[in-house]
Amino acid sequence: MKAKDVLTAEQFTREDLSIIIDKAAQFSRALKKSETIEIMKNNIMATLFFEPSTRTRFSFETAMLRMGGKVISMADADSSSVAKGESLCDTICSIHDYVDIIVLRHPEIGSAQLVAEVAECPVINAGDGSGQHPTQALLDIYTIRQEKGRIDGLTIALAGDLKHGRTVHSLAQVLSLYNVKLLLVSPLTLRMPEEIVRGLENAGVIIEQTQDLHKALYSCDVLYITRVQRERFVNTEEYENLKGVYVLTKEMIKIVDKDITIMHPLPRVNEIDSAIDEMPAAVYFRQAANGVPVRMALLSLIIGE
Ligand code: NCD
Repeated sequence: MKAKDVLTAEQFTREDLSIIIDKAAQFSRALKKSETIEIMKNNIMATLFFEPSTRTRFSFETAMLRMGGKVISMADADSSSVAKGESLCDTICSIHDYVDIIVLRHPEIGSAQLVAEVAECPVINAGDGSGQHPTQALLDIYTIRQEKGRIDGLTIALAGDLKHGRTVHSLAQVLSLYNVKLLLVSPLTLRMPEEIVRGLENAGVIIEQTQDLHKALYSCDVLYITRVQRERFVNTEEYENLKGVYVLTKEMIKIVDKDITIMHPLPRVNEIDSAIDEMPAAVYFRQAANGVPVRMALLSLIIGE
C-alpha cells in the first residue's frame, strides 16, 4: 500500500484488509496502554473538506497526531481560495508540495480520482458526493470483526438510503470479498445502484433486496442502518416523504430476541431511537471510535517508514 492512493473500496484485496485490520488492532492496544508512537514525526497531512464532517476529519487528524505527525486543515471551502473562485486542481497543485498526504472530501463523485491524477503525494478519498467512502468501510469491517469475531458466514443488512449513501456503497463492495449474505433494505426509490448490485452478484455474494426492515431484522446478524441523505435531494418534498421510512426502536430489537449488532456510520437523524443507545446491541459509538486506530493503520501503511 506504500505511496498508494485510496480512492474506492473496490481497490482493496482481502489480503489488504487483513493487514489493515491486524495493524489497527495493534494500534488500538498501543493507544489503550497510552504508548508513545512517533512514527509520523516527519510527516504532514492536509485535510481538505469541502463538505461537512465531524468523525471522519477529526479521526484522521487524531490518527496523525497520535503518531507524532502534523496536520494542516481546511474545514470548509469558505475559508480557502476556493471562495475566490480557484479550481480544485489549482488548489491541489499549490499545496501538494507542502504535505506528504492529502485527505479530501468533496461533493462531486469522482473528485478524489481527479485530484489523485494531479497530486504528487498520495490522496485519500474521505467521501466524494454520493460515490464512495472507502476508509469508512475499513472501520466498518474492523468493527464487525471486533464485535462478531468474524466476517465470513454472517448475514448483514444494509438499510436506509442505499442510493445516495456512499458508506453503504463502499461497505457492500468490501464485504463482497467475504463469504457473507447481504440484505439490501430500502424503499424502491432509494435502492442500491444497479452497477454495484451487479458487481456484488458477479463476486458471488448472495443478495436479497427488500423494503421490509422488520423481516430483515429477523434474519440478520448485523444491521447497518443509514440516514436518508437530505443534501442529495433536489426535491425537498421527496426527502420529507422518505426521511421517516425506517425508525428503529428498542421494541423492534427486543421482539427479535437474538444477538444482533446495530451499526450506523453516524450522523443519525431519526433512524435509531436514542433509547437503543444503552442496549448491548448498539455499537455505533464504538464504531466511530474505531476510526482512529483504523486510520492510523492506513496512514502508516501509505506514508510510514
Ligand atoms: C457518513 C458520510 O459522510 O458519508 N458519515 C461519516 O463519514 N461517518 C454518513 C452520512 O453522512 O450519512
